[in-house]
Amino acid sequence: MEEKDEKLMEKIISLCKRRGFVYPGSEIYGGLAGTWDYGPLGVALKNNIKTLWWKKFVDSRIDMYGVDAAILMNSAVWKASGHVDTFTDPLVECTKCKKRFREDTLKEKGICDDCGGKTGEARQFNMMFATQIGAVEDSSATVYLRPETAQGMFVNFKNVVDSFHPKLPFGLAQIGKAFRNEITPRDFIFRVREIEQMEIEYFIREDGWEKYFEYWKNEMLAWMESMGLDMNKIHELEVKTEDLAHYSKRTIDFEFDFPFGLKELYGLAYRTDFDLKSHNLIYQDEETNTKIIPHVIEPSFGVDRTFLALMLSSYKEDISGEEVRPYLSFNPSVSPVICAVSPLLKNKPELRDYAHIIYRNLKDEFGRVMWDDNGNIGKRYRRQDEIGTPWCIVIDFDTLEDNSVTIRDRDTGKQERVKKEDIIEYIKDKMN
Ligand code: GAP
Repeated sequence: MEEKDEKLMEKIISLCKRRGFVYPGSEIYGGLAGTWDYGPLGVALKNNIKTLWWKKFVDSRIDMYGVDAAILMNSAVWKASGHVDTFTDPLVECTKCKKRFREDTLKEKGICDDCGGKTGEARQFNMMFATQIGAVEDSSATVYLRPETAQGMFVNFKNVVDSFHPKLPFGLAQIGKAFRNEITPRDFIFRVREIEQMEIEYFIREDGWEKYFEYWKNEMLAWMESMGLDMNKIHELEVKTEDLAHYSKRTIDFEFDFPFGLKELYGLAYRTDFDLKSHNLIYQDEETNTKIIPHVIEPSFGVDRTFLALMLSSYKEDISGEEVRPYLSFNPSVSPVICAVSPLLKNKPELRDYAHIIYRNLKDEFGRVMWDDNGNIGKRYRRQDEIGTPWCIVIDFDTLEDNSVTIRDRDTGKQERVKKEDIIEYIKDKMN
């Protein structure tokens, strides 16, 4: 990693910790590799990402059905899906320091990244987390934490068809946790062991799958743009035939220019009829009056990687003043806080009481509103800039006279006086 990129990652990780976005998992016990905890602002950002995704891909469509399947599934699911046999990564061990690595992530093949020793033969390591269900500890009690949300949708295909009789094409969508025993979790929340996915299984007739593949590619690009991801940093990678997952006939990875390299952000796969066939599921096609096995286009999005790409796309430094002013230029729709409300002085009851009324009204309207009376006004602006709050509202002594407040814009630093009764409309207007 170049020095400037390393610095950028350090800044993002430090901001995330300091301002309550992301903390190391189990931190007070020394942490647990590959796990991170989302703090108050991190949860808000993640919830906004998920809500917008659900709105765009489920609620606003007439051909999409949401599900929320159990994380623990019968082991037969993973046998049928091919994950028991093929969901593996090549694991190598250093013959000198005994550290283990994923072979394809080594800087130099055959050489230990840590001590420069030689690595041994690669063996296939299954990435599913196995656990035991119930009180009996034998192999019949083994279950896996799901490594993808996708199978929770395939196994409910028949249930949804029986309940709603959807006509092809239609999709199932799910947001939820998935678990992977990554050999080398790394790069902050980029490669973690407990992840959150937002996935769609879109069922189609085999004929014309290319058209739907193209359609979903464009939908994914439109989503990235609407989130405010830096589109100059998005690149499409046509996955080579020899690198395709066992279920895929064609995959495009949307890669993002992360500071640690160009890496997968999202995936779009043509899963053919592999999964429904594996689970012996068929569909009565009324159009042709035949029983068919639908084919599947799968747009797959990681929440954690969206989060990181969004932080990196939004992080800016304003160098026009005496000091560097870091801020996150989030769209108001994803921003953890839409506006912050402050009395100019903390110890003046008349300002506090007035500010509290405004705060309560805005909170009832927008929900994501923060009360901030800590430190002087300059410090509050800096703090709000750093967490990406688009507007800061200050109640000062003039407010008591003329019932207007100061609204400061995060990106430009410009301030406007707005009448108390116009604040909500002012913000709604700006948001649109
Ligand atoms: N159902 C298909 C599937 O799971 P995948 O490419 O293995 O495909 C989909 O994963 C998405 O999940 C990735 O594009 C990425 O956004 C996210 N993802 C996968 N493994 C991850 C990990 N270890 N840490 C964070 N995100 C991960």
